[in-house]
Amino acid sequence: MNILVIGSGGREHALFWKLSESPQADRIYAIPGNPGMGELIDIPVTDNAAILHFAREKEIGLVVVGPEVPLMNGLVDELEAAGIPAFGPRANAAEIEGSKSFAKDLMKKYGIPTARYEVFTEAESARAYIRREGAPIVVKADGLAAGKGVIVAMTEQEALDAVDAIMEDNSFGDAGARVVIEEFMEGEEASLLAFTDGKVIRPMISAQDHKRAFDGDKGPNTGGMGTYAPAPVMTPAMTERAVEEILKPTIAAMEKEGRIYRGCLYLGLMITDDGPKVVEFNARFGDPETQVVLPLLDGDLAQIMLACTGGTLADVPIHWKDGAAVCVVLAAGGYPGSYEKGHEISGIEDAAKLGALVFHAGTAAQGDRIVTNGGRVLGVVGRGTDIASAVQAAYASVGQISFKDAYYRKDIAHRALRR
Ligand code: AMP
Ligand code: GLY
Repeated sequence: MNILVIGSGGREHALFWKLSESPQADRIYAIPGNPGMGELIDIPVTDNAAILHFAREKEIGLVVVGPEVPLMNGLVDELEAAGIPAFGPRANAAEIEGSKSFAKDLMKKYGIPTARYEVFTEAESARAYIRREGAPIVVKADGLAAGKGVIVAMTEQEALDAVDAIMEDNSFGDAGARVVIEEFMEGEEASLLAFTDGKVIRPMISAQDHKRAFDGDKGPNTGGMGTYAPAPVMTPAMTERAVEEILKPTIAAMEKEGRIYRGCLYLGLMITDDGPKVVEFNARFGDPETQVVLPLLDGDLAQIMLACTGGTLADVPIHWKDGAAVCVVLAAGGYPGSYEKGHEISGIEDAAKLGALVFHAGTAAQGDRIVTNGGRVLGVVGRGTDIASAVQAAYASVGQISFKDAYYRKDIAHRALRR
């Protein structure tokens, strides 16, 4: 079977890598992909017609859509209509990530645990609500804002400034026409991803992301500077609660709403004193959660994905390996602000020789050199029998790699190690 992966980040390289282990896989293409992946096809991820044409021409038997934008753009709907199995939710189901107010309203309607909230379209009423509720409080732009539209305000003034930036100065464009203002939840965060065919739900192994740029969870929010799996905060009992109280009711709610959800559903959770609560849903695999979850999957990813698209997930058992995986992201100096591109990267093969998986994210090929081409450049994954040995393996390999102005966090998995 020929497979097509859509996207170009570290997540997509990890998907590509795991799919290439599948006994069913023949050729695997990537649109547009990155130099860590196989056959790269230069088509924009938003050009549904060109992707459909390519998939027909190459007799693709499975399309795997990585990022949220093509999902929101109806790529899965169009492939499905053409009879091509496509892993990921349709546009009306991807709305669970695309609109925070849709997600919050869904949770309210179906009693799914999450932070208390209100939605505002006018800055003045948003400000009045903030003055009434006080700080800490969380202000979120409604639409897709590449992970940057959330302000966790520790003071009332910060929250008021956030409303100004989002609603008056249009810092996030149309994504800020509406804001969601919600209660600040106290606790430890965890990511729980699940495969689903619209009815059957199979949680993956849990993970924890590190969103802030610098050690000690300081500095600006990023797309994610590192991850580890499994996350000890997600005990078997806590995972069971997340499945019963969140995953099952959410998948059932989506079906009731006529938005049947198939693919990977990502729960961003806060583990509070009252149990797991939803911080956010994503309609896709997490990045860099995927880089640590898939190395622990003991099975055929292509088979699981086809079962999700075909409604037969009940027939496919899913197993996880013992041990742990840790991903350290090597970023370009300046990220998540502005940064330079085009610096030569060395040592990738030496890192791999030590046993690490090196997933490309923001890289480009220049002749036979690999150069930096994005903010998050590489994800280096170490594996071990436990988190501590996986951390050691990851950092030993990170030490082999260099490029100008590289930086990375030195404390990935610190919460797990402190336990
Ligand atoms: P989001 O993009 O919605 O995941 O939010 C980004 C980050 O902001 C999350 O990973 C949390 O660390 C934080 N956050 C979002 N909502 C809340 C909340 N209600 N209470 C506390 N922290 C939050
Ligand atoms: N790692 C967070 C995300 O993928 O949204």
